[in-house]
Amino acid sequence: MPGVFISFEGIDGAGKSTHIEGLAQAFRACGRSVTLTREPGGTPLAEKLRTLVLNDPMDAMTEALLVFAARRDHLQQLIEPALARGDVVLCDRFTDATFAYQGSGRGFEPAILSMLESWVQALPVTSRLRQPDLTVWFDLDPAIAAQRLAGARVPDKFEAQPVEFFRRVADGYAQRQAQDPQRFARIDAAQSREAVWQDVLSAVQNKGWLA
Ligand code: TMP
Repeated sequence: MPGVFISFEGIDGAGKSTHIEGLAQAFRACGRSVTLTREPGGTPLAEKLRTLVLNDPMDAMTEALLVFAARRDHLQQLIEPALARGDVVLCDRFTDATFAYQGSGRGFEPAILSMLESWVQALPVTSRLRQPDLTVWFDLDPAIAAQRLAGARVPDKFEAQPVEFFRRVADGYAQRQAQDPQRFARIDAAQSREAVWQDVLSAVQNKGWLA
């Protein structure tokens, strides 16, 4: 069976994690081999870069270069080999997060992000870029996300940002969806956990990847 690449996006506090785990179990129950991973991160080098990006102060260009460096290693070492084996790759965030956080959130030039995307995600031989086959976007009002995050854990550099930052990030996700609507499934993440799960499942079933 051909590999399947699914990414999961949304502002901090949108509640992606339990549903990504649930989908991994659902695919495994159907006999599929699953690679569960995240960005920034997923390989030893990319996890080191993650620690820097999430904790050290730096400007938006440095952040963008580090997340794309981590992505390059992640694609080469983990994602491409997994897709070549026919795995289902479930990735907690991918390039849409860079456009949303570094682009919209921090105000960094999207044209430069597009250039980095075209270098880092270029597939050999063809002129195509590696992109997720489906992006499940957990869309949530930043005010609700902030309430959910409050007191949950010690916030990292991004989680500590004010609600206005997350409004810009949410706008960034909406712009990415508008540019490539076929790839995105928008989930209303303000619903109950069960309703969100049903929508996540339907988004994947609609693609014919799960019975
Ligand atoms: P996580 O907490 O969902 O694992 O995400 C890590 C944080 O990194 C989250 O606040 C979003 C941020 N991030 C970026 O700023 N740019 C990126 O390209 C990625 C993948 C994540």
